[in-house]
Amino acid sequence: MSDTAVAKVNVMEQLVALCKRRGFVYGASEIYGGLNGFWDYGPLGIALKNNLRDHWWQQMVDCPPIGPDGEPVTIVGLDSSIIQNPKTWEASGHVGGFSDPMVDCTVSKKRYRADHLACGLVKVERKGEVVELGWCAVLDGDGVDVDMQKRASKLIKKSGGGEYVKPEALFEYTELDQATQQLVIGPDCDEAGSLTAPREFNLMFETYVGAIRDDSAKAYLRPETAQGIFLNYKNVVDTMRVKMPFGIAQIGKSFRNEVTPRNFIFRSREFEQMEMEWFCAPEDALKWYEFWKAERMKWWKSLGIKDENLIFRDHDADELAHYSKACVDVEYRYPFTAPKFGELEGIAHRGCFDLTQHQTHSKTKLEYFDQEAQVKAKDAGCSKEEIAQKSRYMANVIEPASGLTRAVLVMLCEAFTLDPERPSKVYMKFPAKFAPIKAGIFPLVNKDGMPEVAKALFMKLRQKFAVQYDAKQNIGKRYARMDEAGAPFCITIDGQSLEDGTATIRLRDSLAQERMAMDEIESFLDKQVNG
Ligand code: GAP
Repeated sequence: MSDTAVAKVNVMEQLVALCKRRGFVYGASEIYGGLNGFWDYGPLGIALKNNLRDHWWQQMVDCPPIGPDGEPVTIVGLDSSIIQNPKTWEASGHVGGFSDPMVDCTVSKKRYRADHLACGLVKVERKGEVVELGWCAVLDGDGVDVDMQKRASKLIKKSGGGEYVKPEALFEYTELDQATQQLVIGPDCDEAGSLTAPREFNLMFETYVGAIRDDSAKAYLRPETAQGIFLNYKNVVDTMRVKMPFGIAQIGKSFRNEVTPRNFIFRSREFEQMEMEWFCAPEDALKWYEFWKAERMKWWKSLGIKDENLIFRDHDADELAHYSKACVDVEYRYPFTAPKFGELEGIAHRGCFDLTQHQTHSKTKLEYFDQEAQVKAKDAGCSKEEIAQKSRYMANVIEPASGLTRAVLVMLCEAFTLDPERPSKVYMKFPAKFAPIKAGIFPLVNKDGMPEVAKALFMKLRQKFAVQYDAKQNIGKRYARMDEAGAPFCITIDGQSLEDGTATIRLRDSLAQERMAMDEIESFLDKQVNG
């Protein structure tokens, strides 16, 4: 592997190890050997996740931004069922179309996503002549060129040696014609033609509702929170006195039986989403698309993520769902994609596809009557047809859809900071607002009246902040624990504290130590955390 590939693997390995060691993320059901694609969030992980969730809810539902016309926007919240009537997923297109192409290896018995297999024709140079040795497949992603070279080297050695010639291009398995697919050596075996033809694999988890296990009782765990919002669109319009445009937001678990869950919590089979469906008049949809695109990027930056680690990636026309008029991803430079970027959030202009589908399948009228638009059109002297068209329509939808668990990963990656100078060698640089622990409170030594004073300060601060009292082991070890947990402050009570009522505050990032009156610490923390 190249130095950069090794460095990338190392960062992720170290991050995953820290997450386990400090109680951020554990593998699910570890004592039974784990379950691929499932993760449990430990005490610090759930605290970080909740802080992000609350920030999203606060900025999207409680205090949403001012709209492009200077008017405050309205977004209401929702918590819909994970299991809905299965007709939902027929209408949404998930039963028929929510699938990934999958291939099986008949030799290694492993399964891959066909679009995640990179295939290259291995060539070797011998005595000035270039010879074709065969097609090799490797998993696409981090270090794909290096992996291809490794695989090719084996093949070259077996065939009598020579100089590796880098393939001019790597192809997705699905791009190869059937005859070439038959020639490919699977990623985990040595036999050409071991991979099956790709077949579509539906990603929805199935379950049964009630006591009888037949097709009539079949239901699905939701693969996105969005559809629960569309199902409740009419309820919200009828009960909440909302007027177009408005949004409905939801945070909750989604489930996808991903063929290849990978990269820690990046792609898992159970995850959480934060989605908002913004309903508006068709003629205003593009204006709102641009608005939400800009707002959502602002939101990600409000987490303290560095500008250079975030980009927009507009979807090409051939990537768009057939009903979608435009879609852009907010992407982050993850350690396993760097220097490239990977998806964090999608902002899609979904037109009126979802509401129209649900109207057709449920036979429930979902059109919106826009009284204000009617008055405006009349005042503007529009024709009868124009007035009718402007005042009764199927709302268009702009959808900012992000992953909460993916946001946790981004915050973990962004915070992970190597520092050979400090005892822990690494610290988590969370902004104080999102840090799971805001401060550690320590007596310098566990005697001489210091524990009593430190405990009293802890008892006061714990009423407002997530703080931890720690009197065990030497102060260096306590600092190291807090550095790995990402606590921005450590407050230490020492001999001087007993004399003058001050404490030292150690700042995690600069390692500076400041003396502060104990009475002022509460307002100091308040400013840092909520400021
Ligand atoms: N309603 C639209 C929708 O669900 P999506 O792009 O499939 O769109 C939205 O998902 C976001 O959900 C993604 O940008 C990602 O952050 C998150 N997400 C999707 N699949 C995921 C998975 N398997 N594991 C973790 N997060 C996932």
